[in-house]
Amino acid sequence: MSEPSALQVTDLTVKFAGITALDHVGFTVEPGSIHAVIGPNGAGKSTCFNVLSGVYRATSGSVRFGDAELTRMAPHQIAALGVARTFQNIALSKLQSVENNIMLGRHRLTRAGFLGSGLRLPAARREDRRHRERVREIARYVGVAQYLDAPVGMLPYGVQKRVELARALAMEPRLLLLDEPVAGMNGGERRQMAEVIVAARADLGISILLVEHDMGMVMRLADEVTVLDFGRKIASGPPAVVQSDPEVIRAYLGEQAAKEQENA
Ligand SMILES: Nc1ncnc2c1ncn2[C@@H]1O[C@H](COP(=O)(O)OP(=O)(O)OP(=O)(O)O)[C@@H](O)[C@H]1O
Ligand SMILES: [Mg+2]
Repeated sequence: MSEPSALQVTDLTVKFAGITALDHVGFTVEPGSIHAVIGPNGAGKSTCFNVLSGVYRATSGSVRFGDAELTRMAPHQIAALGVARTFQNIALSKLQSVENNIMLGRHRLTRAGFLGSGLRLPAARREDRRHRERVREIARYVGVAQYLDAPVGMLPYGVQKRVELARALAMEPRLLLLDEPVAGMNGGERRQMAEVIVAARADLGISILLVEHDMGMVMRLADEVTVLDFGRKIASGPPAVVQSDPEVIRAYLGEQAAKEQENA
C-alpha cells in the first residue's frame, strides 16, 4: 500500500443561492491522523465532505491530497486516489445483501470489469473469488460477518452503519471520510464503532477525517479538531484546547452560557 498523503484544504469557499456554506476554510489532515470537523447544525461540515469527495463543486479555494488537486475531479477519480467516504444518512442498497453492498466498495479495484465478469471468464471468476474473500475479512474486522447474507434493510441501524464503514474500507482507502459515524447509535454501538475506527487507523495506517456531534467521541478519538460555525473556521487545535476555547463554547451554548462559563 502507498504511503498516506496529507490532505490540505486551503481557502475553501462554497456558495449556494444566498448562502455561504463555507467561507475561506482551511485545515490540514496530517498523514495517519484522526482529524475531526465539528460545529453546530448547518455549520458546513457535510458541505465540506461533499467537496472533498467531488459531489459538490467549490466556488473557490483548493483541496490537495498529496500531489493531486481534488476540486476539479469527479467522485470516481477521487475515489481512485484512495479517498473513501460514508454518508450522514446511510446510503446502502437496502434490498441487497451485506456482502454485495461491501463488494461495491471493491469496484474501483476490479480489473475484469463488468464484461469479463458477465461472461464468467475464468480470470474474472478467480478475481471475484479473491474480492469476496477480502470482503469477508473486512466484514469480520468491523464485526458484521454474521450478517453477510442478510438484506441490509433488515438489519438494526447500528449494524447498517458498520456495513457502510466496511464498504468504505473495502476500497482500501488511504483517507477515510466519516460523516457522523455514530449518529443515532446507543452507547454500546458507539463504543464498538469507536474501537473499529481506532483499529483501522492503527492497523491500516490510514488518515481519517471525522464529522461528529458526539463530543465525548471526538475528544477520545481525534488528534486535531477544526471547529466550523456558519461556514467559518472559529477554532482549531488539539481536542483539549478547542474544548475550552470561548468562541467554541459560545457557538455551542450561546452567549449567556459562555459568560457563565468564563465567570465560573
Ligand atoms: N445542496 C445545497 N443547496 C443549498 N443549500 C445547501 C446545500 N447543501 C447544504 N446547504 C446549506 O449549507 C449550509 C451548511 O449545510 P451542511 O449540511 O454542510 O451543514 P452541517 O454542518 O453538515 O450540519 P448538520 O450538523 O445539521 O449535518 C446550510 O445552511 C445548508 O442549508
Ligand atoms: Mg451534516
